[in-house]
Amino acid sequence: MKTRVMGRWVGYDESGAGKSLVLIHGFPLNRLIWKAQWDGLADVAHVIAPDLRGFGESPMVEGNIVIDTYADDVREFLDARGIHEPAVICGLSMGGYIALAYQRRYPAHVAALILANTRAGPDTPEGKAGRDRNIALVKEKGASAIVEVMLPKLLAPKTFERNLALVEQVKRIMESASAAGIMAALAAMRDRPDSIPTLLEFSTPTLIIAGADDQLIPLSEAEEMKQAARNGTLVVIPEAGHLTPMEQPDAFNHAVREFLQGLRG
Ligand code: MLT
Repeated sequence: MKTRVMGRWVGYDESGAGKSLVLIHGFPLNRLIWKAQWDGLADVAHVIAPDLRGFGESPMVEGNIVIDTYADDVREFLDARGIHEPAVICGLSMGGYIALAYQRRYPAHVAALILANTRAGPDTPEGKAGRDRNIALVKEKGASAIVEVMLPKLLAPKTFERNLALVEQVKRIMESASAAGIMAALAAMRDRPDSIPTLLEFSTPTLIIAGADDQLIPLSEAEEMKQAARNGTLVVIPEAGHLTPMEQPDAFNHAVREFLQGLRG
């Protein structure tokens, strides 16, 4: 479904009732990566998943877009939906960068964080150069060029062998991203600040989820976040790559369910 927020359209899905669990997707994806979560966690939370601007059903809104812009978009969306109380903010990869920005900007609205397949540190100089190459690639060849670059890295080798339906689904999700949305997100990720100080500063309960076979973000990044987080738990999901909620939905949902239940106690 879609709603109007500050004059722009935002695509989203929601299910369940109780404490809000906000799911922020990664790059270059959309809210459909969370289908198994809005189906599987509705009995323990009010699950709500927006599309970021330029992805899924949220059209691109041009401007000076930095990682904070997406965090502000999420806050405005939640405000428009009447969600003012602290929520559990869960982000995958780029969604994790946004969740950490949200923690910095809206600490009073955060009950807990879930950081999946992400990192807290900034891009390295090589990483930044890679972003610039990808921006140039999309400018020259269009959005589909990024699908070819990203797809081989998004899933675990075993997922490619065993779950072709999932590979196709991820490909379709990526193919729906707009070129403008992709280029803006690449620049915002390139320029994002170091969020290790954010983990050191706040004592927010934080669940860190990693895929044992993540080819994009190595396990060491999750371990570094666990070290920095003042109140962090690390769960490593076997036989999962960069898209743990899709590749191992039961294990992902189990980890989130236990974490949410622990928050109540
Ligand atoms: C993502 O999955 O959101 C991105 O690949 C993260 C990144 O490129 O840093």
